[in-house]
Amino acid sequence: MDYFEIVGKNHLEGNIVVSGAKNAVLPIMAASILNNSSLKIKNVPTLSDSKTMAAILEGMGSKVSFSNNDTINIDNSGLNIPFASYDLVRTMRASFYVLGPLLARFKQAKVSLPGGCAWGPRPVDFHINAFEQLGVKIDLENGYVVADASNIKGGKIHFPKISVGATGNVLMLAVLADGVTVITNAAAEPEIQQLCQMLNNMGADISGIGTNTLTIKGVSSLKNLEEISIIPDRIEAGTFMIATAAVGGKVVLENVNPLHLKEVTKQLMNVGITVIEKNNIIEVHSEGDNIKFSNIETNEYPGFPTDLQAQWMILMCLANGDSTLKENIYFDRFTHILELNRLGCKISLEGSLAKIKGNRNLIGANVMSTDIRASAALIIAALCAEGKTSISRVYHIDRGYDKIEEKLTKLGAQIIRKK
Ligand code: EPZ
Repeated sequence: MDYFEIVGKNHLEGNIVVSGAKNAVLPIMAASILNNSSLKIKNVPTLSDSKTMAAILEGMGSKVSFSNNDTINIDNSGLNIPFASYDLVRTMRASFYVLGPLLARFKQAKVSLPGGCAWGPRPVDFHINAFEQLGVKIDLENGYVVADASNIKGGKIHFPKISVGATGNVLMLAVLADGVTVITNAAAEPEIQQLCQMLNNMGADISGIGTNTLTIKGVSSLKNLEEISIIPDRIEAGTFMIATAAVGGKVVLENVNPLHLKEVTKQLMNVGITVIEKNNIIEVHSEGDNIKFSNIETNEYPGFPTDLQAQWMILMCLANGDSTLKENIYFDRFTHILELNRLGCKISLEGSLAKIKGNRNLIGANVMSTDIRASAALIIAALCAEGKTSISRVYHIDRGYDKIEEKLTKLGAQIIRKK
């Protein structure tokens, strides 16, 4: 298994181009099931998760090819097996997104329940309950959802907690359900907004995009879409912004949408970091010291993203005082704390409130990745640590970051991937 070897204390200087958003490309690949011909998806990051979704589609009879380093071509004209197996779904929770479009296209589907992940169980009860509210008959058989959507109609759906995946999954069925569906407490994340825009470009009738109430007027059929370009990855961008803030330097991020990073920019400026927004560019300047402490919490968009919680935590270990960080999306998304403490952080937990000691001197050590964003936090910590750090299980980072070691090396970091 690959591991990273990093020598810390190098400032980051230069420009990087941010890749397309992982969390936009996965639902859009699932939505391609509603397309009866070829769809070209551009600005796709090279990630193992996109390859996993491609394998799931190919298992259904789809033809998928990758080209030009950032393009996926998906031909679903021959797609005829509404089935997604456990051995693939268990490796990536987002595979469950195929249920909605399969039901919309075939009126039936058999999809494995997703496995858990590094941080606790991640249920899909919101997805199941919402489908049932639209009239889908659902049985759970040997770890699979066996669903029949031959008699569905629009209805009112209220999610008890905002859910990106459940919003996207149900949207992809509701667009072809008779009547009107109103989803309240819907997700407004940019990735969901792009999914809504894609479906509307195919002839769907979704209004309220970008708000927490989506109204979907069902249509009898959708027209094929030929091409779509994925929005920039706000979490990759935020990761590089926080890395620059922590280790110091001057980094220009290209191909970003500053609107998607308003809260991250605000919090970085609140702790003394210079952030300059220009069209599709964000510049971050930091001395890597004089970082103020903070007391923030994660929230659904447009709040501070949970996918940057681990990265923010390491920044606060370097702040000139003690901080707190409340995690409101996943009560137990803290597997990174033990590994960060091995590097010299001093972080403790009270429920889902992290208490972070500032003014820490980090010393390189051997640490282990536990999930995509925890790996990113460990990389940032290693960039700030004295001496050498070895980070194992980097397959986690390869799921969510496109060529991260190349981008960091270009900025002056000392990071190499070893076998
Ligand atoms: C998406 O996951 C993202 N993944 C996650 O990013 C992100 O952390 C999360 O949204 C929150 O923003 C993709 O887009 C592929 P949720 P998702 O449904 O859809 C609870 C990354 O690192 N819930 O919005 O699975 C759930 O437990 C990944 O890129 C239920 O209880 O998240 C959580 O507490 C990690 N029942 C909350 O809702 C359900 O049926 C939000 O989860 C569904 C969710």
